[in-house]
Amino acid sequence: MLRRYASKGRRLWSQRRLRARNASGHARGLFRLEATIAMPPESLRVGRPSTFQDVALTTMGRMNMAGLRPEHDVLDIGCGVGRTARYLCDFLKEEARYEGFDVREDVVVWCQTHITPLFPNFHFQYTPLFNTAYSTDTTLQSAAEFTFPYPDNSFDFAFAHSVFTHLVADVTRNYLREINRVLRPGGISYTTWVLFNDDPTAYSHPITRKMHHDPSGTFAVRNLDIPDAAIGYNEAFVRDEFSSNGLQIVEPIHPGFRRMQDVIVATASGIPSSR
Ligand SMILES: C[S@@+](CC[C@H](N)C(=O)[O-])C[C@H]1O[C@@H](n2cnc3c(N)ncnc32)[C@H](O)[C@@H]1O
Repeated sequence: MLRRYASKGRRLWSQRRLRARNASGHARGLFRLEATIAMPPESLRVGRPSTFQDVALTTMGRMNMAGLRPEHDVLDIGCGVGRTARYLCDFLKEEARYEGFDVREDVVVWCQTHITPLFPNFHFQYTPLFNTAYSTDTTLQSAAEFTFPYPDNSFDFAFAHSVFTHLVADVTRNYLREINRVLRPGGISYTTWVLFNDDPTAYSHPITRKMHHDPSGTFAVRNLDIPDAAIGYNEAFVRDEFSSNGLQIVEPIHPGFRRMQDVIVATASGIPSSR
């Protein structure tokens, strides 16, 4: 009972904030509640400031086409400063659960401070793991050995937007295995990549042409000293990794456009893959 009143109070408070913002001429788009969440400082945002919201809105449309529904329990891998979460706040039902985790403490604390008090079904977790671009303390645990902090079969939809473009191959393999584990059988995985193909007439994401290609043919990096700064993968390698980790790709792979990455939608088998 108390919880219901608290939740109603929060909604009314949000609506009052929304009116205040509209009165001050703040843009009110399709996602009205998004405007009730403060905008994070530029220092915590990724990408160009002018594309922060465009990218999130495009992602929302693409995820909806991939099967995201308002009643889904959702996992956001590498949630950052909540760029997509802030729109999910106005998409998911109050009964649906959202969990996000990230290796950067500052962005997670920002989300815990600015999003969870308004939307208590949204939880954010700091997971201290090593990454050559985002968390460079070499004493941190390797993400290749990391178990996502959720039980098996917890989610209907798991997504990672612009995260596999910052993970080396052994981490990528582990994260695909973990996605299959935490999704319910038939659950949907939505992940973004920059892919290339050996065949020059086949599709490759344009930015992979400017990368250093590893002699193995598996991956390419923008910066040899900081591999996690930007990584592209050979499509054949990625397809193999999905299938050996229990994830079945829903064809076709969707090519990127403008600054958007390639999207792979897949469904979880529910059968754990052996380590
Ligand atoms: C380009 S940002 C994208 C952030 C967010 N998904 C978005 O679209 O705004 C990449 C994010 O991945 C996070 N990250 C890097 N390595 C990670 C790992 N092993 N596990 C979880 N998150 C990771 C970074 O800290 C960063 O927030």
